[in-house]
Amino acid sequence: MEIRLKELNPKKFIEEKMKDISSKVGNGIAINALSGGVDSSAVTILGHKALGDRLKTYFIDNGLMREGEPERIVSMFKKLGVNVEIVDSKEIFFNALRSITDPEEKREAITKAFYKDVFSDLVKKSGAKYLFQGTILTDVDETIAGIKRQHNVFEQFGIDPEDAFGYRILEPLVQLRKPAVREVARALGLPEETYNRPPFPGPALAARIIGEVSPERVETVRKATRIVEEELKDSGAFQYLAILHEDRVTGMRDGRRDFGFQIEVRCWESKDARTGSPTRLPYDTLDKLAERITTEVPGVVSVTYNITKKPPSTIEAI
Ligand code: XMP
Repeated sequence: MEIRLKELNPKKFIEEKMKDISSKVGNGIAINALSGGVDSSAVTILGHKALGDRLKTYFIDNGLMREGEPERIVSMFKKLGVNVEIVDSKEIFFNALRSITDPEEKREAITKAFYKDVFSDLVKKSGAKYLFQGTILTDVDETIAGIKRQHNVFEQFGIDPEDAFGYRILEPLVQLRKPAVREVARALGLPEETYNRPPFPGPALAARIIGEVSPERVETVRKATRIVEEELKDSGAFQYLAILHEDRVTGMRDGRRDFGFQIEVRCWESKDARTGSPTRLPYDTLDKLAERITTEVPGVVSVTYNITKKPPSTIEAI
């Protein structure tokens, strides 16, 4: 049953969930995967408050995260007293993504690599009988409505985790929507950079690559992402991102013609990501973005700004 923001008492919610977790898990071992987003961060702290070291938290490095993200998140949690182990799974993900260009197939490849190749192994090794997930009410709604393939909803794969892997899933945030999760995250002592973090998609930078997702192409979009995030962090926008296009285009560099890459910048005004419109960024800001991206990201000869609303656009590219 939904707990609405105005009914939420974060302290009481946390106490109740801690009791519930302790009574369900008993002396057992639980695990969870942390991505650094507000949902998985809140679940991590909640689980550790209830279970201490009996919750093992992993950061799956899928090779698709932003620059320095795995290390930054692990060190942030260390400061909060939580040990997080980085699992280097880059090769598994890039092998799974090789030569796939269809958006839905990409998403499916990432989900499968995560659960079937990486996570089930961790569960086996850790001896865990419980798995924490940061599923929230909106994930459930959108999955039921068929709007989105949420990577954290098992039933879409016809998987009963207890039958398939021998563990049970706990979803302590499933009664909440995002604004309520942010309040709980704040009450759990997470820093503002976490509870007020702009949204970032589950498939990470792969959601911003049109065409094949290779290590080289991720590196290109990663560098552009860092620049866009630096330049637009004070824009007040809902979300801003860089997309790498599949098509190349002729440009000029050092007096020679160069058949190079195209980066598209998007910057969104939105309340809940269901609809959105492009931010009317000052021309000087756009100019600076183009200048920096074409000089700092190797191979890029063209930068465009998206002026389309959602719908018909989506916020991400895949
Ligand atoms: P779209 O691209 O569908 O995105 O307009 C709407 C919002 O959802 C985020 N997004 C995701 N979040 N898992 C997530 O947790 C995903 O697979 C996913 N795909 C998109 C996107 O960043 C935007 O805020």
